[in-house]
Amino acid sequence: MTDAPMPRVTVLGTGYLGATHAVCMAELGFDVLALDVDEAKVAALSAGELPFFEPELPELLRKTLATGRLRFTTSYAEVADFGDVHFVCVGTPQKSGEFAADLSYVNAAFSSLAPLLQRPCLVVGKSTVPAGTAAGLAGLLSLAPAGAGVRLAWNPEFLREGYAVQDTLEPDRLVFGVADDASEQTLRAVYAPLIAAGVPVVVTDFATAELVKVAANAFLATKISFINAMAEVCEATGADVKALSGALSYDTRIGGRFLNAGIGFGGGCLPKDIRAFMARAGELGVDQALSFLREVDAINLRRRDRAIDLARELTEGTFVDTRVAVLGAAFKPNSDDIRDSPALDVASRLHHQGASVQVYDPQAMDNARRRYPHLSYADSALDAAGDADVVLMLTEWVEFRELDPAVLGAVVAQKRILDGRNALDPARWRNAGWHYRALGRP
Ligand SMILES: NC(=O)c1ccc[n+]([C@@H]2O[C@H](COP(=O)([O-])OP(=O)(O)OC[C@H]3O[C@@H](n4cnc5c(N)ncnc54)[C@H](O)[C@@H]3O)[C@@H](O)[C@H]2O)c1
Repeated sequence: MTDAPMPRVTVLGTGYLGATHAVCMAELGFDVLALDVDEAKVAALSAGELPFFEPELPELLRKTLATGRLRFTTSYAEVADFGDVHFVCVGTPQKSGEFAADLSYVNAAFSSLAPLLQRPCLVVGKSTVPAGTAAGLAGLLSLAPAGAGVRLAWNPEFLREGYAVQDTLEPDRLVFGVADDASEQTLRAVYAPLIAAGVPVVVTDFATAELVKVAANAFLATKISFINAMAEVCEATGADVKALSGALSYDTRIGGRFLNAGIGFGGGCLPKDIRAFMARAGELGVDQALSFLREVDAINLRRRDRAIDLARELTEGTFVDTRVAVLGAAFKPNSDDIRDSPALDVASRLHHQGASVQVYDPQAMDNARRRYPHLSYADSALDAAGDADVVLMLTEWVEFRELDPAVLGAVVAQKRILDGRNALDPARWRNAGWHYRALGRP
């Protein structure tokens, strides 16, 4: 770093992305003021309580709060006055009833901040947005009292929930979408410790930076749906998708990551991002270029149907008067995020088909209870499985991978299990007397 004073950082929106970013910026030595419109969230964070589950983050939150470098507020005026660099991390969910992204939170954050900006600063978008969004927001910023002293950059975020701290402090790459040299230099100053540690930087224009993020998610979703399409073919031929993906993964051009067949992807990013990408392509007149993503989405949703069909086969054709244990509620392990969770979608549909469903998840119980109050919840995997006619393992937490088939077998009514994530050893379960089924495997 040069002798120039360290820029003062603000973060707008303290959800999974923003809270992590604020804490990690404070950990890197910056003075950080983070804002949310949700007063309860701001109060919890100020008290050192993380309002969601993310490994390592609670300890780092308390550590950085204790240094005095990190504070939280609900005041946009305070944020505008404090910051040299403002990171916008608010949500961009799917619009209700449409594929397109709902940009109202991003627009609200920019509209609240811009009229209060009295001195030169850099506003950095981190939310995932359709290509062309930044160009529109630059117009909004031009209304700031500080005029041309207020610049805009787009710096998409690639962190994975469950590994958010590590991904923020040691990202695979940094992408800077900028319109001028000064913005690039400011971002280089903010990320100086990471760049010094060797993190590659890609400097580009706004539209490319916006596209890198959605293109990455489209690629990952496609890889998952590819192997799930292979699982469908395996089911028709008696082949084993686990052996197939294992063999494919030795090919260094393909690699084994995101190549595990199962009930598919969910969460607050991949599903809504590929849909928003298709919607934007339509607006741009290039919808054909992304029509394959429709199939990616359809394959993904068909896997949930297949899981229900397999569960029905296990319960001999009906869910009525059937007790079903669902292990897993979060959309993936090491997270409490239940947005578009395949596990809860399947659980809820089984409930509506007459099953009595008991759900257990190590971290996502509160979120699941709030969003799916019609389901029943158990205190442990063993509790959920008590007297169950079938057990569905739908989120591959380590705790579920390590379940002992003999111990679980002692509490269920029927030893029938559907491994929705291909995460269990079929031989071990079958040897213990279980009727084991999985997607894409005989
Ligand atoms: N969660 C992830 O793993 C992840 C990873 C990379 C990128 N992203 C992207 O980051 C963005 C945020 O995602 P998230 O998962 O953190 O969402 P989130 O819903 O957890 O958090 C969004 C936060 O923004 C706050 N907010 C809403 N309107 C506001 C406003 N006008 N001013 C200030 N705060 C406001 C909300 O109260 C909420 O706390 C999305 O665009 C998402 O696609 C998320």
